[in-house]
Amino acid sequence: DGFSAGSLFKQGFSYTYDDLIFHPGYINFAVDDVDLSTSLTRNIKLRTPCVSSPMDTVTEESMAVAMAAVGGIGFVHYNNTAQEQADIVKKAKKQRVGFVANPVCVSPSDTISVIDSLKASKGFSSVVVTEDGKVGSRLVGIVTSRDVDFVRDRSTQVREVMSTDLLIAPAGTTLEEATKILTRNKKSLLPLVSESGSFVELLCRTDLKAYHALPPIGAPSLGSDDKILVGAAIGTRESDKDRLKLLVEAGVNVVILDSSQGDSMYQRQMIEYIKKSHAGLDVIGGNVVTAYQAKNLIEAGVDGLRVGMGSGSICTTQEVCAVGRGQGTAVYKTAAVANALGVPIIADGGISNSGHIVKALSLGASTVMMGSFLAGTDEAPGDFYFQDGVKLKRYRGMGSLEAMTKGSDARYLGDKTRLKIAQGVSGSVAAKGSVLQLLPYTMQAVKQGLQDLGVSSVKASHDGLNAGAIRLEVRTGAAQREGGIHDLVSYEKRRF
Ligand code: XMP
Repeated sequence: DGFSAGSLFKQGFSYTYDDLIFHPGYINFAVDDVDLSTSLTRNIKLRTPCVSSPMDTVTEESMAVAMAAVGGIGFVHYNNTAQEQADIVKKAKKQRVGFVANPVCVSPSDTISVIDSLKASKGFSSVVVTEDGKVGSRLVGIVTSRDVDFVRDRSTQVREVMSTDLLIAPAGTTLEEATKILTRNKKSLLPLVSESGSFVELLCRTDLKAYHALPPIGAPSLGSDDKILVGAAIGTRESDKDRLKLLVEAGVNVVILDSSQGDSMYQRQMIEYIKKSHAGLDVIGGNVVTAYQAKNLIEAGVDGLRVGMGSGSICTTQEVCAVGRGQGTAVYKTAAVANALGVPIIADGGISNSGHIVKALSLGASTVMMGSFLAGTDEAPGDFYFQDGVKLKRYRGMGSLEAMTKGSDARYLGDKTRLKIAQGVSGSVAAKGSVLQLLPYTMQAVKQGLQDLGVSSVKASHDGLNAGAIRLEVRTGAAQREGGIHDLVSYEKRRF
């Protein structure tokens, strides 16, 4: 019944995830026994098969920390100076999982209206007050919504309303100990303070609640340095060699060569350079969508491959350049070659629900890379804003004119020409809460999907695919409509 992947993908069509549907398999294990651990590259293992895309509206420090916290990894974008990117990596690597990444501080002379705008843009109103409004300066107080709620004059200075009776802990307190202190006391924040009184780290009650939410987050992704794993993107220009040097000094664990068409002499030369000059650093190449391209980059020495061309939610590459491939076909065709050679595939773009993740993994990918799915979370760069009553965050393609104006044109090889041709759009996505909640719930759904398929691990799904035991077929347009929500006048769209 149905087709093996080998026979289905021989038919000459470019299939997207939505075109395809898997047949259920036999279940002889519990959903909690499904093992999602996987390989990012030849040498890096992850507990969760998810990575965040190197885009300037997706991955900076907070996202990198959150992705590692849930067992995945974040790739810091390079639409900035080399120093700025290296500083993001350095700060993320310093971050201890559980503590607030990049805490916002205000100074005593700031007005309550500053707290109001933080509430509107970041979603929180409990803030640490330090002498000069920065981390590292002397802690002088804390402001929470309870301090400012009923103050009519919003130009009142923070010093007049802040609480100075503070619960603090010494710098270096372990997460376990800090959690105990915070849960015992009815405070919302626990600042960690150095011997000289400077504010160094912060534990926040709302984050603790997320960490304790079900399903559990589990162990973070840590490197051999016992610090969180952080990846970063670079291009293939001469100047990217200096960028790479700074990233390596900052402790980056893996680099990804960022290009929409990775099968090029530029990428080949860069891979050779990295392998010679930074032995031991894993390099991910791409993007590729064909078996031929995959073979070429594997031959050049990559440790992982990023797959997808024009399947991203903000991409216009297929329309502008007439090249690309349906993401289902691209993942299957490249994985069939790469997995046999021990090079894991990252299925990049086009993930809009947990079913797409199940499909990507079961077509041979070892991880999925997500942009829009993670944009709009609390950890994505940028501020929230409201439009027609909906809470939104900006999300833009790295090949959009907006992003290229800031410098990301190298990804599209557009830096060689004066005319900028957009291969992406900019827009907005709905607010989604914290990655710390979104991903554990999504992973639980992925586990259920693999259980329905009758495979108890990512590896078992690859084996089942190769053996022809996993059966699938193409859905007609009507079958796709039937598989979605239909015949309701209205419905409530809650994810969890
Ligand atoms: P999703 O669907 O997760 O896709 O939002 C994210 C992926 O899309 C790629 N990307 C682009 N592709 N033009 C493109 O053709 C763009 O402007 C662009 N920006 C990002 C990238 O691979 C990312 O991971």
